[in-house]
Amino acid sequence: MNRSDVRVGMVGYAFMGTAHSQAWRTVNRVFDLTVRARMVAVCGRDATAVAAAADRLGWERSETDWRAMVERDDIDLVDICVPGELHAEIALAALAAGKHVLCEKPLANTVDEARAMVAAADAARRSGVRSMCGFNYRRVPALTLMRSLVAAGRVGEIRHVRATYLQDWIVDPQFPLVWRLRRETAGSGALGDIGAHIIDITQYVTGQRIIGVSGLTETFVKERPLPASSSGLSAAASGTTTGPVTVDDAALFLARLSGGAIATYEATRFATGRKNGMRIEINGSAGSLAFDLERLSELEFYDASRPAEEQGFTRILVTEPQHPYMAAWWPPGHLIGYEHSFTHEVRDLLEAIATGTDPQPSFSDGLEVQLVLDAVERSAAAEGAWTHVEKE
Ligand SMILES: NC(=O)c1ccc[n+]([C@@H]2O[C@H](COP(=O)([O-])OP(=O)(O)OC[C@H]3O[C@@H](n4cnc5c(N)ncnc54)[C@H](O)[C@@H]3O)[C@@H](O)[C@H]2O)c1
Repeated sequence: MNRSDVRVGMVGYAFMGTAHSQAWRTVNRVFDLTVRARMVAVCGRDATAVAAAADRLGWERSETDWRAMVERDDIDLVDICVPGELHAEIALAALAAGKHVLCEKPLANTVDEARAMVAAADAARRSGVRSMCGFNYRRVPALTLMRSLVAAGRVGEIRHVRATYLQDWIVDPQFPLVWRLRRETAGSGALGDIGAHIIDITQYVTGQRIIGVSGLTETFVKERPLPASSSGLSAAASGTTTGPVTVDDAALFLARLSGGAIATYEATRFATGRKNGMRIEINGSAGSLAFDLERLSELEFYDASRPAEEQGFTRILVTEPQHPYMAAWWPPGHLIGYEHSFTHEVRDLLEAIATGTDPQPSFSDGLEVQLVLDAVERSAAAEGAWTHVEKE
């Protein structure tokens, strides 16, 4: 073995497994790092299907038992790309076996699981083991830049945060009951799946925590056909047998942030026509910033300190070599996309492993999001009663 190799074993090979494979394949070809990711094993339940996936996605071998895989001596890092019900179990086993962990978001299905994961990550850190939660939008260069501008005081004191994450993939009541629509597999619905992203990214960009919420959730379609097959966000129904939807279809909440800002959040899978629309806007005493995932190379900046006759939103094309991550890619003006956020994520994880530092977002950051999800659900169950977010 080359001593600078980080040998990766990944569990799950559908939507996120494919995105992460792309990142592991690309990272050392684009970024100059002192360690090299080696795609050693991919794990799934169906031997034939996972062998085909290994071949297609570039993994050296395939496995069918994640427990055996996380124990193997030739694996240094476990990448968790399976539904939330398995995150805690796999992460705890991998950390106990001394393996670094990259775990997809949301960190877990419950606060208790997330707390156990944080405790295990803290214990493993003492032996140099690193853990990271996959909130990949932190690595969209325009959002990384947004955080830098906020931290540099360019928008002054933040008054408003406005965050929406809108999808429409289950508007059809005949769309089947996939794992994302069941509490035991997904933890929650739109709230934990896409609401978790806007909670994390706004806390990251503003540097403020959500401290209290008033929530409202709704499940519009309460019964759906059972799935015959499913992968990622697409699925086929099996026939006429149905089952109950046990998570929210949409979640809205008001929030107060630790630095005095007030905020609104909306996460829904019923925004007809909106496919993956995430928008974040921040209004401060000295300016505003706005981001739209459908135009992810752009950041809008309103600088209130400019002369009145020049004021207006400026569209910053975030493709200059001075912008986060961009020096490694193409000449200015040549855009990057969704998949690059995952390459940046594993770049930062490998860099943290190489330098013996803690990667962000940590499992503690994942727990913070979980505590907000929990507060929103408790508030919604109490008809929107103001609910404090528990401390870590
Ligand atoms: N960062 C993001 O933007 C983003 C986007 C989508 C999903 N996710 C997260 O990624 C995770 C996976 O979601 P997805 O969309 O890839 O789901 P998916 O349905 O596309 O894939 C799930 C994978 O898990 C595998 N799997 C399920 N149970 C297993 C088991 N017991 N052993 C081995 N493999 C098993 C399935 O075979 C499949 O390969 C979830 O936590 C989800 O919230 C994150």
